[in-house]
Amino acid sequence: MQKVKKILIPEADILRRVRELGAEITKDYRGETVVLICILSGASIFFADLVRELDLDVRFEFMSVSSYGAGTVSSGEVKILKDVNHPIVGQNVIIVEDIIDSGCTLSYLKRVLEQRAPKSIRICTILDKPSRRKVDFKGDYVGYEIPDEFVVGYGLDFDGRYRNLRDVCVLEITEDE
Ligand code: IMP
Ligand code: MG
Repeated sequence: MQKVKKILIPEADILRRVRELGAEITKDYRGETVVLICILSGASIFFADLVRELDLDVRFEFMSVSSYGAGTVSSGEVKILKDVNHPIVGQNVIIVEDIIDSGCTLSYLKRVLEQRAPKSIRICTILDKPSRRKVDFKGDYVGYEIPDEFVVGYGLDFDGRYRNLRDVCVLEITEDE
């Protein structure tokens, strides 16, 4: 079974940080139109909070990607399950993600989207586990760097569960019942 161990980042802290990220992005893109791509499903809660902090002309897009394999370790292979609805050529794109772990998902996705000739492309993630990188990859807007622990809540899941927790929590995984 699995159980939630402890709160790593309380909701109030997250929301304060999201406001800061929103202000930073608003400043950087003043006068521009931005296409925000929400990576489903993990980034959905962060996306909803972030977009309301942006005082910009924005459009929403949603993508779904899957890493093959199960468990808490990302396999590095990525498949696009749902693509954006409109071309991104000539657009300022910001990919909004829940967490950068090995970096495999986003480095692959960024490469794919770069081939579509956007005007610019940046990465915004609420969480980052830099110690887990398998590929060299950096986010442009990062909420929190966290230690190498499996977290759930604020959109992040374990086996589809716990996404609705308000706080980012560390999940303790135990094998016994
Ligand atoms: P990466 O390709 O290894 O960077 O994996 C990124 C994806 O793995 C994220 O979008 C999450 O879906 C998932 N992931 C990585 N670490 C965690 C975690 O601690 N909790 C929940 N999901 C995670
Ligand atoms: Mg996920």
